Amino acid sequence: MKETRIVKVNPDSPDIHEIRQAASIIRNGGLVAFPTETVYGLGADGLREDTVNKIFIAKGRPQDNPLILHVSSPDDISQVATCISPVVDKLVEGFWPGPLTLVLPKKPHVPDVVSGGLPTIGVRMPDNLIALTLIAESGTLLAAPSANLSGRPSPTQASHVVDDMWGRIDLVLDGGPTRLGVESTVLDLTQDPPLILRPGSVTREELEDVVGVVNSLAEKNEERPSSGKTLPAAKYPHYILDTPLFLFEGEPQAVIKRIQEEAEKLRERSKKVGIISSLENKEQYLDYADVVEVVGSRYDMTKVAASLYSTLREVEAHKVHVLLAEGFSDRGLGFAVMNRLREAARGRVIHV
Ligand code: TXA
Ligand code: MG
Repeated sequence: MKETRIVKVNPDSPDIHEIRQAASIIRNGGLVAFPTETVYGLGADGLREDTVNKIFIAKGRPQDNPLILHVSSPDDISQVATCISPVVDKLVEGFWPGPLTLVLPKKPHVPDVVSGGLPTIGVRMPDNLIALTLIAESGTLLAAPSANLSGRPSPTQASHVVDDMWGRIDLVLDGGPTRLGVESTVLDLTQDPPLILRPGSVTREELEDVVGVVNSLAEKNEERPSSGKTLPAAKYPHYILDTPLFLFEGEPQAVIKRIQEEAEKLRERSKKVGIISSLENKEQYLDYADVVEVVGSRYDMTKVAASLYSTLREVEAHKVHVLLAEGFSDRGLGFAVMNRLREAARGRVIHV
């Protein structure tokens, strides 16, 4: 068991001394959790096998699920990847720093543990001053998955990191809540047309505006691909809640009525029920559930994305027996939100 330190850092003007101390932990082979614009990352020197192995152990992550290398400048891509085409240049120009991970052929000197044995490597430049300064001061690239225990919702505030990783890592840089709340979009550029392996904060529509046709592994309403498709982003669910979650998709009024009915039936059987609701519909559920948690307005998907993971953690803490969640529109950022909710539901999706 390690002593985990927590240090508050101002995200707009990070104290360079604090960041340098964190960077020295990275150089000495330690683990540092840090904020990005999406979720908190769990960073280690990404070019060393021993340090990358520590990440897998701390998270309890399967060894074949690859990690993203975080860079502080677009010039760093060529250190670790090949085939940097004009399409890559356009994407970097359009979206970096920002929530887009590019999957490219890997250079041989990058340890295989980073890419889970794949010949490709995911690279991203986060849009967060703490993260960028930490990477630059470390003098290496940071391998950084989300800083949660494997299978838990990604952390969007330092307290989530502490809940999961206390005693397992050296330091948490607390830069406050993250801005976006869902992870980066993972785009495989070794496919033609490029393939979205994980929908995220950059939408397919935004990508297509810059590079033309883009395919997506997760299609609307599609359930998790069977083991036949083994691309890692699709093979491992982002999280497995302790509480079973049922997701209701369809016309909003019909969804409300069905959730009320299901909640009523469950409570007749003495089940404690939690409902994850949009701001607009909260009142409709108050008489039907033990806990009603609002995830945001259906007219503001940015807010819904930003609060999704903390809402899931909060509602779980109430120890209800069953969770019932309203679905949202698949449009734009809604697609990433629905992808995460469908994963949490693990097939328990009810179309009304
Ligand atoms: O926003 C984010 O991407 C956050 C922050 C910390 O940067 N990171 C993150 O990392 O979400 P992680 O490890 O939790 O998720 C990375 C995803 C996984 O689904 C992994 O399978 C996929 O990206 N991935 C990474 N490298 C890949 C590769 N070479 N080929 C296919 N999938 C890859
Ligand atoms: Mg993750």
